[in-house]
Amino acid sequence: MHTLIIAAHPSLDASRVNRKWLEEARKYPERITVSSLHEKYPDGVIDIAAEQALVESHDRIVLQFPFYWFNCPPMIKQWLDEVLLEGWAYGEGVDLFRSKSLGLAITAGVREEDYRPGAEFRYEMATLLTPFELTAQYIQARYETPFVQYGVNSRTSDAEIERSAKRYADYLLQTREEPVLLESE
Ligand SMILES: Cc1cc2nc3c(=O)[nH]c(=O)nc-3n(C[C@H](O)[C@H](O)[C@H](O)COP(=O)(O)O)c2cc1C
Repeated sequence: MHTLIIAAHPSLDASRVNRKWLEEARKYPERITVSSLHEKYPDGVIDIAAEQALVESHDRIVLQFPFYWFNCPPMIKQWLDEVLLEGWAYGEGVDLFRSKSLGLAITAGVREEDYRPGAEFRYEMATLLTPFELTAQYIQARYETPFVQYGVNSRTSDAEIERSAKRYADYLLQTREEPVLLESE
């Protein structure tokens, strides 16, 4: 299975975790393709045909981004809006994504225990991510359980980031036979 990472980070130079994750993923070019949108499109103009061709040649798409304002950064949204076009991603007789899965790889500053009913941010990450789950449903892709690194802040040690990058590589390299899909799928 060949995995395509669509990554966006508005300030990759200042990133610690996403940058490390991309570095780790790039160690496996035979299994993982890294497409880092801000690096590829510094002017913010996405080559839609090129992105669609990339998607067509992979069977697993992972959107990687830092969680900003309880959402994805704008370039991921722009990618979804511009690349997932009717007649290609969805619509009458279209089944491109039926054989593909959609994953999310997210870094968050907030701790996991604060994303809970009764805690400071009240909602679980799975709830906050329902627009992505429904997007996967809409295009008939299989939605994977998101891979999330919580509690990232300036005190996060290099060793923790290193461990998280190794866990990310394990997640990326797992095969479809393993139970990565949500139970409801
Ligand atoms: C503009 C902005 C908004 C943020 N919003 C959130 C948020 O809504 N929830 C959260 O958990 N963390 C939030 N954070 C923290 C980032 O998610 C965190 O700094 C990032 O994931 C760390 O990854 P990096 O080292 O790759 O930059 C925000 C950070 C910035 C700069």
